[in-house]
Amino acid sequence: MDIVDPRIETYMASRLSRFDEPVLLEMEERARERGFPIVGRNCGVTLEVLARGVGARRIIELGSGFGYSGYWHSRAVGPAGELHLTDGDPANETSARDYLGRAGLLAPVTFHVGDAVTALQTLPGEFDVIYDDIDKDGYPAAWLAACERIRVGGLYICDNVLWSGRVPADGETPDGVTDAIREHNALIAEDERYVSTIVPTRDGVMVAVRIS
Ligand SMILES: C[S@@+](CC[C@H](N)C(=O)[O-])C[C@H]1O[C@@H](n2cnc3c(N)ncnc32)[C@H](O)[C@@H]1O
Repeated sequence: MDIVDPRIETYMASRLSRFDEPVLLEMEERARERGFPIVGRNCGVTLEVLARGVGARRIIELGSGFGYSGYWHSRAVGPAGELHLTDGDPANETSARDYLGRAGLLAPVTFHVGDAVTALQTLPGEFDVIYDDIDKDGYPAAWLAACERIRVGGLYICDNVLWSGRVPADGETPDGVTDAIREHNALIAEDERYVSTIVPTRDGVMVAVRIS
């Protein structure tokens, strides 16, 4: 099920063609060819807008793949910022370094290979933005780890929270993933330290701002 009418998504993306550059197009082409689930152009720009909107200087991504979402976050924090990318697959670090290096966006990046939530727990201090895009059965635990580590005024952002429409529909997928996302979304909605909304771009993006 499409969350947003594809004609709307196409229109939105067509407004973003000024961001076309060889490295970004190469990353998008790689994702298409290999069926790798990057956030895509509309959501990527959303990440940059949100991060710039809260003046983010320190961001951690949980689940960075080959660096596509990192591309937008790096633009937001700038070369003097701090951007922690995480992924369980060491080959993704190599690819992300290559792409982001060629795009001139590597300066703020530290890459952590291994479990993303463990990397978050190992790093000290608060973050302006924690962005979650790991395997979906890990969403509730990722939220519980992240919600304590975001500064007041900062953001928790999470991709795929509508899961192609399965989350708001009845029923469960055999892997239990849909219920894990539902649990994640409920935990956030109930947390009075945060005000949250689901932006229905692409597959649903949770945006939660910490207010206390
Ligand atoms: C959906 S992709 C990330 C896409 C990326 N955010 C983007 O838009 O470019 C999920 C990635 O998270 C990694 N991953 C999944 N669960 C993880 C975990 N618990 N710890 C670290 N990496 C994880 C996978 O290896 C995969 O590369």
